[in-house]
Amino acid sequence: MIKKFFPLLDKCFSKTDREHIIRTKNIRLIPDFQNRRGGKLSYAEWAYVIGIFQTIIYQSLQKTSANNILDIGCGTGLLGISSEPFVSDDGQYTGIDIMKEDIEYCTGHYPSDIFKFIHLDVANATYANIQSEILKKWPIKDNSQDLVTALSVWTHMNENDAIFYFKEIYRVLRPGAKAIITFFLLDQAYITSLGKRSNETGRFHFTNQNDWIFDVTAYNSENWMTVKSARYPEDAIGVTQKGLEILLSTSGLKLVQLYPGNWKETPGIFFQDIIILEK
Ligand SMILES: C[S@@+](CC[C@H](N)C(=O)[O-])C[C@H]1O[C@@H](n2cnc3c(N)ncnc32)[C@H](O)[C@@H]1O
Repeated sequence: MIKKFFPLLDKCFSKTDREHIIRTKNIRLIPDFQNRRGGKLSYAEWAYVIGIFQTIIYQSLQKTSANNILDIGCGTGLLGISSEPFVSDDGQYTGIDIMKEDIEYCTGHYPSDIFKFIHLDVANATYANIQSEILKKWPIKDNSQDLVTALSVWTHMNENDAIFYFKEIYRVLRPGAKAIITFFLLDQAYITSLGKRSNETGRFHFTNQNDWIFDVTAYNSENWMTVKSARYPEDAIGVTQKGLEILLSTSGLKLVQLYPGNWKETPGIFFQDIIILEK
């Protein structure tokens, strides 16, 4: 019953909460319930994830202000909120997404002086299956970005798209700049975690998406896998260690850090695996 009124409760709560924000000004931009996407609906979860990525973004930049940050698959702008403190004084956050309605929402919601949003007319079976099928370069200059981010996006890309867009990350980054990309990495920790996922042991933490068991090949790929419950492979994509090596060797990006995700039944700072890359 209370669930039915959640959007209304959320509206009242967010408005009142906003009046009480003292030191974390950027979270005033958290969208209302209807516009919170990316697999995170709760206001508190948005604020929590914004904070985690604000920290990692800070650690990944070479300067604290005037940065150009490019966010691929921006959805309704969660990482834009994390990025806001670091693009002040002549920098810019650019969010790119294939979902027109999200780009339209973001354009109206975020202040236009430091935020820019671009719709990319490219297909993805889960998110935009009637758009152009052709892979498209991002309308972003070579060597122009201080950071590229993508939260929960390579977890929805098939092998072809993933390889093509990793090369795009390399193209747009300044030499020495970093990228923060999240994955479901099917590495040794994943294999070990499979043994922990049974009702009998009482460690059955995740009840949807087939418990994140990536045992179905995505379009006959050897290294890009999906879950049994997926309507389309792009609903949830996991990539093997070999797949990650292919992404690195074909793009030229270097892996500099990995934060293992807690989806693999081990404590971690975020649900998905976070990898930090460097050009
Ligand atoms: C799970 S949502 C994550 C949204 C946002 N990053 C967040 O965490 O709130 C995945 C997003 O990736 C976008 N996407 C999928 N394929 C894409 C592509 N080839 N280029 C740009 N965006 C893409 C989808 O449209 C969707 O908005």
